[in-house]
Amino acid sequence: MQVTLRIYRYNPEKDEKPYYQNYTLEADPTDRVLDLLEYIKAHIDGTLSFRRSCAHGICGSDAMRINGRNYLACKVLVKDLGTSNITVEPLLGFKAIKDMIVDMEPFFEHYRSVIPYLVNDEPLPRGERLQSPEEQERFDDTTKCILCAACTTSCPSFWANGKYVGPAAIVAAHRFIFDSRDRAAAERLQVLNDHFGVFRCHTIFNCTEACPREIKITQAIGEVKKAIATGRLE
Ligand code: SF4
Ligand code: F3S
Ligand code: FES
Repeated sequence: MQVTLRIYRYNPEKDEKPYYQNYTLEADPTDRVLDLLEYIKAHIDGTLSFRRSCAHGICGSDAMRINGRNYLACKVLVKDLGTSNITVEPLLGFKAIKDMIVDMEPFFEHYRSVIPYLVNDEPLPRGERLQSPEEQERFDDTTKCILCAACTTSCPSFWANGKYVGPAAIVAAHRFIFDSRDRAAAERLQVLNDHFGVFRCHTIFNCTEACPREIKITQAIGEVKKAIATGRLE
């Protein structure tokens, strides 16, 4: 089949403003959008810029807007889009660097603000810090995050104010807040009880719909809100 990609182009070093460029090429319905971008870069226009690494939905580097929705380009097939006209744009809400490459530093600043690692200064037991399967299950879903930013950049609260810590950072916090081995839940909940913390979430659900790892993000955010409101980790 023939497909036309309408791709957002912007090189701030030479373009006054962004524009769209069309590329028409042959594709298989089972091609991934990343395959088409790679083809264009290798055979038609080497200046096209986008991030990618694993090409298998693991590294989280190729999140972008495809036909108006956030996807990992390596996980969406041409046939899944239901059209031969494919618009590719960068994630919303971050500063453009070049084409689909955006400045992720503010995203990682929010991530770092929630202490996204296990904290436990108690003396090490002999062997491991044990945990029951039920205790592990409590935070298992949020361990699946690959930090692709598809959730945060689809959230209208984040679009309205980029200081909102955003769903990805809350997911990272959730993963440790509900880990029975961790001892820094109170500090994380304090960070998330800030003016730009978890209560900026108005339960819009775009984040959950965008997540390529199918994490129940809105539910996780609700659990963090409840922990702040009740002072209990249930
Ligand atoms: Fe990506 Fe999902 Fe993690 Fe958000 S929660 S950064 S959408 S993997
Ligand atoms: Fe935004 Fe998701 Fe909440 S889209 S408002 S973080 S439920
Ligand atoms: Fe790694 Fe798509 S390239 S997730």
